[in-house]
Amino acid sequence: MDAVPRQLFIAGGWVDAAGGGTLPVEDPATGERLAEVADATVDDAMAALAAADQAFPTFRTLAPRERGDILRRAYEVMTDRCEELALLMTLEMGKPLAEARAEVSYAAAFFRWYAEEAVRISGRYTVNESGTGRVLTMKQPVGPCLFITPWNFPLAMGTRKIGPAIAAGCTVVIKPARQTPLSMLMLGRILEEAGLPAGVLNIVTASTSGPVMEPLIRDRRLRKLSFTGSTEVGRLLIEQSAEQVLKVSMELGGNAPFLVFEDADVDAAVEGALIAKMRNGGEACVAANRFYAHEAVADEFATKLAERIGAFRVGRGTDEGVQLGPLIDEAQRTKVAGLVADAVARGAQVLCGGSRVEGPGYFYEPTVLAKLTPDSALVTEEIFGPVAPVLTFRTEEEAITAANSTEYGLASYVYTRDLSRAFRVMESLETGMIGLNQGMVSNAGAPFGGVKHSGLGREGGPEGIEDYLETKYVAMAV
Ligand code: SIN
Repeated sequence: MDAVPRQLFIAGGWVDAAGGGTLPVEDPATGERLAEVADATVDDAMAALAAADQAFPTFRTLAPRERGDILRRAYEVMTDRCEELALLMTLEMGKPLAEARAEVSYAAAFFRWYAEEAVRISGRYTVNESGTGRVLTMKQPVGPCLFITPWNFPLAMGTRKIGPAIAAGCTVVIKPARQTPLSMLMLGRILEEAGLPAGVLNIVTASTSGPVMEPLIRDRRLRKLSFTGSTEVGRLLIEQSAEQVLKVSMELGGNAPFLVFEDADVDAAVEGALIAKMRNGGEACVAANRFYAHEAVADEFATKLAERIGAFRVGRGTDEGVQLGPLIDEAQRTKVAGLVADAVARGAQVLCGGSRVEGPGYFYEPTVLAKLTPDSALVTEEIFGPVAPVLTFRTEEEAITAANSTEYGLASYVYTRDLSRAFRVMESLETGMIGLNQGMVSNAGAPFGGVKHSGLGREGGPEGIEDYLETKYVAMAV
């Protein structure tokens, strides 16, 4: 903990907030205070933007190989210091150590991927249709970017924005979630050690996001905003971004359906469901939110799922062997408890769990519910907790209609052994990502993102760098 910076990182220096304010960081497993970090004011945030703006003209011309090498070095350091980063993440966010280690690897993989992409930014050259002219296109960095990242994946949601931005030659102001600033501050230190020039990355920790970030979003020096969080906040940020016509990337809420057809391997579907639901304790936008099982296999699926989920070891994430940590705070636990209470009041059957865990911290039992009515809030709202509602369907058409009956469109999961059905269903699902016979879609080399109210743009893979590049076209007379 002593090695973790507590100050703002602006223009290559670690500084206190103007006025000296601090913000407490809590361990959600105990409710105890872990640390105090700088609580930025609007002046601090504007200084960070000024630094990003000043660093941009030089950084955009740094050789692509050098930009890639910085990312590669940071990847190596993250990998070497995985244990230290994982412990820090577990302490501030609550996820079990095994999951924190997996997140460190996942987060570092974005740096490795974009270290390789930095040298592959290309344009095109073609003879125009008439044969008398030429079309030349070039890709250039969009400019200073603002990133607002969530608490559920404190490192990975940062690296998958910072990686492509640096690879493209953009500069950055980042504001991590107030609940989990320590991982991001540590990442800043690592990038500094990896040789990132001053002002290219600026970290602003703050207890209030809106008032401190809005002036940046409305400032003409900013060229891009990327946000990961709720649809409600994303909508507001898109409105604010309209003033300067910012390029925006939005990774917003989800309500992922998980479909189990009658021809599925039910045991494999249960394994996939454990990952899709219980990874990160269900606190993921891609978490399976609603399970739809064909009536011929629904009882078997729900019973086996409840046996496995009910056996999860709940506890403080720092204890080896723990599989489910606390929720992030009391507000989130109250929301989850309210959703379960609503479902039960409408007649849902509790197969396991269904209650808060008494004692310190924000723990909630791993829970499986069956026989839900489709209008239960648990089915229509994003749960963000370890609760799995199982519903049934009779026909493929009914399953697709139910899956698509939401304003969200981030991820979906399909279990079937029938190839024709798999293609029919995949082509009909209104989501940006699909897990076919697997419960995990996240991958640094693949485009992560949603449709409908789940967002705009893609992060990861070759697609992810496009959000940080503008295409310039030159019409050439020859
Ligand atoms: C999220 O769903 O919140 C991000 C998860 C991921 O990238 O796997």
